[in-house]
Amino acid sequence: MKYSELFQLAVKAAGNSYSKYSGFSVGAALLAESGEIFTGCNIENASYSLTNCAERTAIFKAVSEGITEFKAIAVAGSADGDFSRPCTPCGACLQVLSEFCSDDFAVVLSDGVHSFSEFLPKRFTEDKIK
Ligand code: THU
Repeated sequence: MKYSELFQLAVKAAGNSYSKYSGFSVGAALLAESGEIFTGCNIENASYSLTNCAERTAIFKAVSEGITEFKAIAVAGSADGDFSRPCTPCGACLQVLSEFCSDDFAVVLSDGVHSFSEFLPKRFTEDKIK
């Protein structure tokens, strides 16, 4: 799977975005070490704070299916159908992803491939609570 293809799957997943309050559609495509791909979209709620981001939708789908090892995630977001501006994962999603990914886990955005550690260099991990 080429990362450009993974990004296109994220754009496609944004097509299912339930974002009637913000009008901002986000899609994510998570590539597992097994080669399986889990997609997700943002799912908003009238109570606003219960909104689930696209990245967390994708990773919760994967983990709930027993998949916990990942290579990359592509994220695409747009308010108007133009996905050329990079949509950076939010802090909450980075922390959830952190549980299951290494520093070199690839984060694929419209401007190219980044490493996870670029976004969350000093993450909170389980060794801190032992
Ligand atoms: N959103 C995501 O789905 N992922 C992110 O990483 C950032 C924000 C969604 C949440 C909300 O539905 C909309 O984008 C506007 O914040």
